[in-house]
Amino acid sequence: MITTNIQDACNALRIGQVIGLPTETVYGLAADAYNIAAVERIFDLKKRPRFNPLILHIGAIEALHEVARNIPPLALQLADAFWPGPLTLVLPKQPRVPGIITANQQTVAVRMPAHRTALQLLHMLNFPLAAPSANPFGCISPTTAQHVDRYFGDELALVLNGGACRNGVESTIIGFRNEQPVLYRHGAIALEDLEQEVGPIDIATNDDHTPAAPGMLSRHYAPRTRTIHSVDIAKDIALNADKKVGLLVFSQVPSMAGHLVYEILSRDGILAESAANLYAAMHRLDQQGLDLIIAEQLPNKGLGRTMNDRLRRATQN
Ligand code: TXA
Ligand code: MG
Repeated sequence: MITTNIQDACNALRIGQVIGLPTETVYGLAADAYNIAAVERIFDLKKRPRFNPLILHIGAIEALHEVARNIPPLALQLADAFWPGPLTLVLPKQPRVPGIITANQQTVAVRMPAHRTALQLLHMLNFPLAAPSANPFGCISPTTAQHVDRYFGDELALVLNGGACRNGVESTIIGFRNEQPVLYRHGAIALEDLEQEVGPIDIATNDDHTPAAPGMLSRHYAPRTRTIHSVDIAKDIALNADKKVGLLVFSQVPSMAGHLVYEILSRDGILAESAANLYAAMHRLDQQGLDLIIAEQLPNKGLGRTMNDRLRRATQN
């Protein structure tokens, strides 16, 4: 059931139910982070392996100290600069954070979302919300309440409708090594923007975050339709002339392809607009009964890197 009634959402969470939660990035599957049965239900609904830890969502910066400790100064600086917003910080956990949230690691991932409805709800609750993206494991993330409803329907107490997600891709995840920031996942805040605030940020190699951030699993965010990530869409269209092809392009469709099904992410070539449209466009293409989706590589800077990362994972076999 899709609803805009925040009080109903609040009541459901208080009795340990799982709801669809709007955020500025993607919708989450949210539950009381201190209710272990409710958190187990999130994993079961998503069919997510238990070794893949969840993000905690808090309603105020001060609440960070309830769930994390030994917080490096640069983490506080980033929180001050980017919260509420699509930045997740991975920090040493407080003992009260249940092991099921963190996959029994000593670190916890935390963010303060910038969605009005999500914040309003968090302010009504006296516990943080554990919330992974509201897609079955490996599938495209949801950016509307309808996407969540289509995935989970009546298995959820309700989906709180907060409209289409403004950012449209997941939060950027930053961890710390010797108190210095390390990028675990490209996301809705461009790496360049974080570096403006705290200087150069290393990008974690696999060794750093396996299995710590298995959201980096190679196949992820994937449509059911076979998808390729293309540097030369005209060539790939010609090579697949015998197939029913759909295109996912940045700002324009090559004239020879005007007859194909297509999605243009931003006619003005704006990366933030493309990110906001990316998953909804993938969901639509995936419902067209195509043989193949050809997704154009985006400019590899700013949010283009985040989108290329997601498209790469959508196209791994
Ligand atoms: O934008 C977002 O972050 C969305 C919305 C709902 O907030 N949530 C989201 O959650 O993308 P999820 O579960 O789909 O991705 C969480 C990622 C996973 O890759 C997980 O491995 C990583 O966060 N993660 C969680 N806890 C971690 C930890 N302690 N250390 C390293 N990575 C962690
Ligand atoms: Mg996810």
